[in-house]
Amino acid sequence: MTLGIIAALPQEIADLLKLMKGQMQTHTVGMRTFYQGKIGGQSCVLVLARVGKVAASATCVTLIQKFGVDRIIFTGLAGGVSAEVNVGDIVIGTSFCQHDMNAEPLFPRYEIPLLGKQYFVSDSELNAALIVGTTQFLQGEGQYSLQRMLPKENIDLFGLTNMKIHQGLILSGDQFIGSAEAVLELRNNFPDALCTEMEGAAVAQVCYEYGTPFAVLRVISDKANNSAGYDFTRFLNEVAPVVSSGILLNFLLS
Ligand code: ADE
Repeated sequence: MTLGIIAALPQEIADLLKLMKGQMQTHTVGMRTFYQGKIGGQSCVLVLARVGKVAASATCVTLIQKFGVDRIIFTGLAGGVSAEVNVGDIVIGTSFCQHDMNAEPLFPRYEIPLLGKQYFVSDSELNAALIVGTTQFLQGEGQYSLQRMLPKENIDLFGLTNMKIHQGLILSGDQFIGSAEAVLELRNNFPDALCTEMEGAAVAQVCYEYGTPFAVLRVISDKANNSAGYDFTRFLNEVAPVVSSGILLNFLLS
């Protein structure tokens, strides 16, 4: 069994990459570096996809076809869409929709043409294991806990004392959502949506097409509103490097 781990940007998985880089073989395919090796006895291939649905899809296909991965986890940041989802919370996607897909009047809005699907679902076993890893990261006292990995001043500055775990619908599109109007439109069109990002539903489609179990783990960096650009950048540099990495290390080492 080989696990593929994808993030869009280096900061989104920085601590894990730092730990693994020296011990892994590197391969470059399609202008991306794939880090292949073992983490806690588990064969893994780590890769940075860059941003957006095309980048994520191409990366997924390479992982499946060239590296033979049989499970994929995508991780990184997302903007909160639901009023219940706050900066610092964790979202594990159970269903996924491409909110910018619109081939009307040929196909119903949001339906992926010729696949006949608006929503894709992730793997329940991977999701359950990620919840365990997330809980250990948030509540544990081990080496890979939030308390150990992030300086206290950043925990306080970003209000990360009560991070919640959510499971549900993730939206993806080739758009950074950064205005009150745009996030309201998503909320109106998808009353159940938890958060929005730019890759998850593309990974979901490719994994559906190849029959590969997958999961998407997101950390909320902003509320997709007028301050989202500023909030995202600050969170990306100050908090993101440890959160997905810490959760995945708990997941891999348990
Ligand atoms: N990733 C993190 N925040 C986001 C936002 N507001 N829109 C799209 N992708 C994001």
